Amino acid sequence: INLLLLCGGGGAEHDISLMSARFFESSLATSDKFSLLKLVLDKHGHYHTEDGKLCDLTNRREIRFEDDSTPAWPVDYVIPCIHGFPGETGDIQSYFNLIQLPYFGCESEASSNCFNKITAKMWFSALGVPNTPYIFLHQLDDDAIKQTEAAFDQWGSVFIKAASQGSSVGCYKVDDKTSIAKVLHDAFSYAPYVVVEQTIRARELEVAVYEYQGEVVATLPGEIICDSNTFYSFDEKYAKNSKARTDVVANNLSAELSQQIRDYAIKAFKGMKLRHLSRIDFFLTQDNQILLNEINTFPGLTPISMFPKMLQHHGHDFTEYLIDVIGRQVD
Ligand code: DAL
Ligand code: MG
Repeated sequence: INLLLLCGGGGAEHDISLMSARFFESSLATSDKFSLLKLVLDKHGHYHTEDGKLCDLTNRREIRFEDDSTPAWPVDYVIPCIHGFPGETGDIQSYFNLIQLPYFGCESEASSNCFNKITAKMWFSALGVPNTPYIFLHQLDDDAIKQTEAAFDQWGSVFIKAASQGSSVGCYKVDDKTSIAKVLHDAFSYAPYVVVEQTIRARELEVAVYEYQGEVVATLPGEIICDSNTFYSFDEKYAKNSKARTDVVANNLSAELSQQIRDYAIKAFKGMKLRHLSRIDFFLTQDNQILLNEINTFPGLTPISMFPKMLQHHGHDFTEYLIDVIGRQVD
């Protein structure tokens, strides 16, 4: 199987995607079923090999190199290991659908429904999965500022989030009402829609949900433990001196709550027609309310990331899981 591993991408999570791709490479290195070509999609939408050779994925499902001396490489399957745009937004999957190239992970429609924080929330509510109270803004004007101030008065402090970014890019915690106009301006610089959410004092629990041998599996919830004054921002996630800690299985969580969280995770996975993998993030409030925070359709697979650890802890081997998923799509 000629397997194209595509990484990078045009968004803020470009470098994280490169780290995640290394995990796929090492996981696939032990299998002789695949001939692997890794390409980086740069921020201008151009593909190149790691040693800088420019190429294209054509609509005949071939990689064509710019220097004519390198023969074209037919692609059987692609792993779009790209967080944010265009991998989690569903854009690149639409292109694969168009050229009929089978691919790993969620399909385009489910990806875009999850990636946009507004459509995602509408889906969660429609499926009966509780989520954080919010308002949404489609333009930055006086009315948007007034609505956000009213939400602040009601909720105490708020999160202002660009609706279509990952890795907490364009997310701001607002504790000072006078900064609202400026923060809205910043958030709107990242996306055309913005959500304002109630700040929830809560534990952050995450479930890896994936397909294994044709069944949807949800792991036990893991936990991200941050400094209580901050949140799991882009820097907290990836900085070397990050104070955030992760527990692959959350401690002090009753069996009942754990099961309820997993049930919600599976309900969201199946209801939103996700495929192959996802990491579904929850809040657990101080009065034990479970709220779905977000779904990551292409979760990080870096050395600090939860998804691979949770899958492994659940007793599954990542390489076997990949071979199983790919084998169901490609003969
Ligand atoms: N968006 C990052 C990669 C994650 O959720 O893991
Ligand atoms: Mg995310």
